[in-house]
This record gives sequence, C-alpha cells and structure tokens, in this order.
Amino acid sequence: MHKLSVNHLCGYGLEVPDLKVASDFYSAFGLRASIEKDRLLMHSAHEGPAELIAIQGLEKRLHHLSFGIYASDMSKFEEHLKKIGTPATASPQKGLREGLWFQDPWGTWINLTPTTVIRNPSENLTVPRVDRHLWRELPKEIKPNRLGHMLMFTQDWEKVEAYYCLALGLKVSDRAAGKVSFMAGGSGVRDHHCFGLINSTHRGFQHSSFQVNSIDEIGLGAMQMQKAGFTDGFGIGRHALASNLFYYTRDPWGSWVEYYADMDKISDSWQAKDWNELPYVWPQWAPEFWGKEMNANHERK
Ligand SMILES: [Fe+2]
Repeated sequence: MHKLSVNHLCGYGLEVPDLKVASDFYSAFGLRASIEKDRLLMHSAHEGPAELIAIQGLEKRLHHLSFGIYASDMSKFEEHLKKIGTPATASPQKGLREGLWFQDPWGTWINLTPTTVIRNPSENLTVPRVDRHLWRELPKEIKPNRLGHMLMFTQDWEKVEAYYCLALGLKVSDRAAGKVSFMAGGSGVRDHHCFGLINSTHRGFQHSSFQVNSIDEIGLGAMQMQKAGFTDGFGIGRHALASNLFYYTRDPWGSWVEYYADMDKISDSWQAKDWNELPYVWPQWAPEFWGKEMNANHERK
C-alpha cells in the first residue's frame, strides 16, 4: 500500500485586478487562455486541469493551491484531513476545481483533485545529432510542457512545513537553511520539488515554474517575453539546489514566473539536507537582485 501523499502540483489560483493583463502576460509566456464564467483559465501543453485560474480581485493575491491525488485516495484524504483538524469543506467558489477543498490552519485554500500522475519520460534524453541542423529544428514558439512547481512565502515557516508534510504527505527534499524548504510529492523517480516554502513575514505567491525541453527553449522563452514587452527578467542560469536551468520573468504584479529545464530527479531513497550555498551556480551572484527583487513579498498581509 502506498503512503498517502499528493502526487504533484496541479495548479494555483491568483486574484488579479485585471484578467486581461493576466491573460496577456501568461499567453506571451506560452500558455493557452480561456474564459469560464468570470474566471481566466490558463493551460500549458499538458492535458489536465487549468494550471492557473485567475479570479477578479482588488489586487494580486494568492488564492489557492491545487495538488493532484489518486482518485482512489479521495476518501482516505477526507478521513485524514478530518483527523488532523482541517476537514474538507465546500469550495470557496462554486465550480472552481473538482475534488476536495480545505484550508490550512493559516487560511490558505488547498484543493486536492484526482488526476493521472505526470511523468516526462522524454526528459533528459539526448538524441545523437549527426547529419542534422539543430538550429533549424528549434521551435518558433515556446509553449511549456507542464507546471512543475510553485514557491509560497509563509510566516511560521517551520510549523507550515510540518503541517504540509503531515496533511499532504509532502516530503522535504532539501532546504536552504532557515530560508527555503523544497518539497516533493508522491513516490518513484520524480522532480526534486513540486512545491516550496519561503520564510517570510506573511503568506504570498513567490513564483511558479513551467517545464520546457532545453536551454534553447529557456533562451527562446526569454526572448519571447522580451519581444512581448515583458523585459524584466533574471537568468539564464543554473540553480544550486535541484540543479535546474532557469529564466525568471517578472509578472505584471512584481512576482515571478520561471521557465525551467533539466532538474535533478529524486527517488524514494533521497535524503534531505540543509544547505548554505548560494541559490545558483551561474551567472555571477547578484545579492541586491536576489534579496530585494526576487525575494520581496509583494502581497498585503
Ligand atoms: Fe523555481
């Protein structure tokens, strides 16, 4: 019998002051937009629930998290959530996402939705390049494969980490000591993290990250955003923890959305550690940017 755990991050919800602004930004990023009632749904190339649901609000604010579970675990999660004192309840808005809804003890809405487990077997496969023109094979338009992870600012960092491990079966895969907790769901070979917590003064959306196939697709994605007028970004680079290649583009409300590729995979024998390394191996360390721009919590308390 498998341990009760979410499998991966399915999506997230944001309240935004202008749905058109959200649609323009995420469409330029390579997601597909559709409108359902008064909500904006954004999808990557992956077939499944909308990765982002944007809802009209007064200002940009994290609205909810959504994790994928096995359909056969629905009733087990329902019992488990009740037992730990955060029982499933009605959705905060009718028809928002399928599955269970509950709030963590700090008020964040969480959805558990039955989905198939995401595996990307083609990742990291290198096809020999003989008698080919790679430059002619590169995509003209970057459309990310899937949502990979999201990081959330939080107060009570250690308590929130303990709760998310207990409630969702997430396992810490590594920590930037005292600052960031990276967490993986499910079992078997999977991404180093699908969710993370950043120690902060209050809750908020820090960044979401979508998987693409290569460093070329990250570079072309960066160009795509710059051409569309979203010129504020950081990278390309290679992270330390999780080792993924990255480029961050700034969303219209000050937060970040990342293209990533080539992330470390972990198995069930992976051991978490606390690290004191810089967040990336290259480019050169930019303390001002990393402290004030990347890690500023842009949401009201
Ligand atoms: Fe990331």
